Amino acid sequence: MPLWSVTGGNELTGSLAVQGSKNAVLPILAASVVGGGVSRITDCPLLRDVDASLEILRFLGCGVMQNRGEILIQSDGMSRNHIPHALMLKMRSSVMYLGAILARCGEVRLSAPGGCELGSRPIDLHLKALAALGAEISEAGGEVCCRAAQLKGAHINLDFPSVGATENVMLAACAAEGTTVLTNAAREPEIVDLQSFLNAKGASIRGAGTSEIRIDGFAPVPYTEHSVLPDRIAAATYLCAAAAAGGDIRLTHAVPEHLETVLSALRQMGCAIVVDADGIRLRRFGPMRAGRPVITRPYPGFPTDAQALLMAASLRAEGTNVFVENIFESRFRHVPELRRFGADVRVEGRVAMVCGVKTLYGAPVTATDLRGGAAMVLAGLSAEGETQVFDSGHIERGYERFDECLRALGADVKRLEDPQG
Ligand code: EPZ
Repeated sequence: MPLWSVTGGNELTGSLAVQGSKNAVLPILAASVVGGGVSRITDCPLLRDVDASLEILRFLGCGVMQNRGEILIQSDGMSRNHIPHALMLKMRSSVMYLGAILARCGEVRLSAPGGCELGSRPIDLHLKALAALGAEISEAGGEVCCRAAQLKGAHINLDFPSVGATENVMLAACAAEGTTVLTNAAREPEIVDLQSFLNAKGASIRGAGTSEIRIDGFAPVPYTEHSVLPDRIAAATYLCAAAAAGGDIRLTHAVPEHLETVLSALRQMGCAIVVDADGIRLRRFGPMRAGRPVITRPYPGFPTDAQALLMAASLRAEGTNVFVENIFESRFRHVPELRRFGADVRVEGRVAMVCGVKTLYGAPVTATDLRGGAAMVLAGLSAEGETQVFDSGHIERGYERFDECLRALGADVKRLEDPQG
């Protein structure tokens, strides 16, 4: 298992091209089975979650070839419509295969994804929506089974703009007779990327990025190419790294429009940010300061995935920063670990108050989840001495070559193997 060694004190400088998006490519890999055919996906990030999804595609009987960031999937040979527990355990987003396999085979069986580090994470909205399309849903022995001789278009209103439920409806409704109208849909940029891929594959979907999406059937094409969207949360991570350590960096292959709330929060906290044709430049030399409360909301609100990252960058800010976590019930699990650096963070329910301290001290800490793990490395960049981040593999689920990218910006970060295994 990885052990990240971080020695703080270096300001960050230089330029970095941002990786492809984890949260865009995962539903796209699942979508590659809809309608069969060959899909060539480029700018695909090299991540443990991507490996897990390719393992599922191979298990389903698809041909998969990978050459670094390029993936070729031949899904005509798909021969299975179920995913065993062991594969589901590897990655929560395997739930995306529910809508994709149902659309392809008319029946899908997979082991119910349990909770995770972020809380209970039920899939009731997914199942309710698939039932509205006419699927018969049964749950037994820890498995979910959805079956439909013919899915039928419907008007579906989501109780909450869930990203996953929106994506599963888009996938399943491709095989529905008639039109599906999804309202109160999630508006994340990754949903727009999924729409582009599915439309290139023969679907007729409009409205992604707004809260109303229309899906009008599918005329499969044999060959599809798609280049994955840049990862806005990876971009937020490197911007917060420069805010935490100080310095002057430029990010290329990033979409500034997808980061507006993150950029605005960093500006309020004292970072100078310039957005131009070459990307996003962030400079931070003076102390960070307190900004307006950071309240996580569905897109275009402040992303919950950047909460821990910005918190790590605010630990030495002058004054008090307030974070309100509205999306997940337990997404402050990184706080006790941040306190080990000498940070002053107080949590009351879904509110965390960060009172800035003068100095942080390197410490042995544990990665509690993907973004919490990255936040530990960021805190280590602004601490005195060495930090060791013990990580059971969280960080590499979502970050490609994390240590190399930070070193390219001048950080002293090494990925070691944990001698305790
Ligand atoms: C996606 O998860 C992302 N994952 C998450 O990123 C991200 O945090 C989340 O959206 C919110 O932005 C991927 O895209 C692969 P949701 P998802 O369904 O789809 C509740 C990261 O760090 N809910 O929008 O699972 C749910 O429990 C990850 O990259 C129900 O109650 O998120 C949560 O509290 C972490 N019932 C909230 O809604 C349901 O049926 C948002 O969940 C579905 C969701």
